[in-house]
Amino acid sequence: MTAWSPESWRSKPAKQLPDYPDAQALARVEAELARRPPLVFAGEVKRLKKQLANVAAGQAFLLQGGDCAESFKEFSADNVRDTFRVLLQMAVVMTFASAKPVVKVGRIAGQFAKPRSATTEVIDGVELPSYRGDSINDMAFTAEARVPDPERLIRAYDQSAATLNLLRALASGGYADLHNVHQWTMDFLAGSPAGERYQEYAGRISEALAFMRACGVTPDGAPSLEGVDFFTSHEALHLPFEEALVRMERETGRWFATSGHLSWIGDRTRQPDGAHVEFMRGIENPVGLKCGPTLDPDELIRLIDTLNPRDEAGRLVLYVRMGAEKVANGLQPLVRKVLSEGRNVVWACDPMHGNTHKASNGYKTRHFDKVLAELKTFIEVLRAEGAEPGGVHFEMTGQDVTECVGGAGHLSEADLSSRYHTHCDPRLNADQALEMAFQISDALKPAQGITRAAE
Ligand code: TRP
Ligand code: MN
Repeated sequence: MTAWSPESWRSKPAKQLPDYPDAQALARVEAELARRPPLVFAGEVKRLKKQLANVAAGQAFLLQGGDCAESFKEFSADNVRDTFRVLLQMAVVMTFASAKPVVKVGRIAGQFAKPRSATTEVIDGVELPSYRGDSINDMAFTAEARVPDPERLIRAYDQSAATLNLLRALASGGYADLHNVHQWTMDFLAGSPAGERYQEYAGRISEALAFMRACGVTPDGAPSLEGVDFFTSHEALHLPFEEALVRMERETGRWFATSGHLSWIGDRTRQPDGAHVEFMRGIENPVGLKCGPTLDPDELIRLIDTLNPRDEAGRLVLYVRMGAEKVANGLQPLVRKVLSEGRNVVWACDPMHGNTHKASNGYKTRHFDKVLAELKTFIEVLRAEGAEPGGVHFEMTGQDVTECVGGAGHLSEADLSSRYHTHCDPRLNADQALEMAFQISDALKPAQGITRAAE
């Protein structure tokens, strides 16, 4: 294999990169970003990798979620806090039910650039370049708005920095203290089945904490009760941006992507000889690979050879995203191949991207039951093959939006128009996300031999 450098991807074919009309303006922005501080630090990245190695070994579970696409317009402290808080709620449920640590990763603080299936969009006979995410162009359907503007990368960096700052404060400043388990409940969840079940769990956790305190286990002796490790992730799509934020660790000479702790390669940009794979192979971070229904087992091994040549535990996360109907037949050959080649990977399920459809009223949506069906089949197939279902990846929000149908709240197609805010794909709302956490916990239980407490 040829030598890697932060810019070696430039000699490879790159899909899905925007066409900037002014190459010099882009170069100026890249230079500016290269001077900016890293958003995340090598030590944190290594810590995540260790936690993912535990996931690969079946001793922890990965929970990852956030917006399909972050946007400049929807950015607010409340929004960030709400996403964080529903992830905490889900993590509590899953930790409690599985008695395993949950590795918490937000799809946040950098998830701006979107791959598109078509380069242009036609509305009422007018054809314009597709919207590619707020770090690239504007969603408004005008010729001017759709021109890629490199200055948007700076704004994406700034928003990511502000988001990370808040997330770090929330994770370690007291908000995430397990003793606050009751306070994370959102008002609109109070009456929902998932909200009620959560209250029950929270009550049991408070009881357990009180018992432990009486036994002498206090936050002084067990500081992990008072906060969480929270990591950030996004798709590594915009390679000029990613390259500008690569930093070398002085002591080791190794390269880290400092735009986020973990990043992944999309199903549309995973060509083994392509630019995205080239970029990702050289960084030390944990790397994800989206595995769609067209991925061939031999090609997967080739990608693993390239992305994780030392077979390092916690380095590679495979996100299976096949769709509820295709996952049974699609996943099995991949698992068999990986097991027969003895590769160390984390198997995670992205049950969102293979289950999108158009509602009769035109809204792009997803059905809760289909999402859940893919998840359950994912777990079954892996278990049957003797592999570990290691994690889940959701498009979700802490807001009370109406973008996905179904769930215990029986959201219908007619409801979609009331609070449909996503800048790209439909997200689970807070209620649906929490319900999903209970469902996963239930689905994961049988094989673990944990008897359920009487409920
Ligand atoms: N630090 C532990 C963990 O992350 C316990 C913990 C503290 C926790 N606050 C939490 C777990 C909030 C879930 C949610 O697992
Ligand atoms: Mn999406």
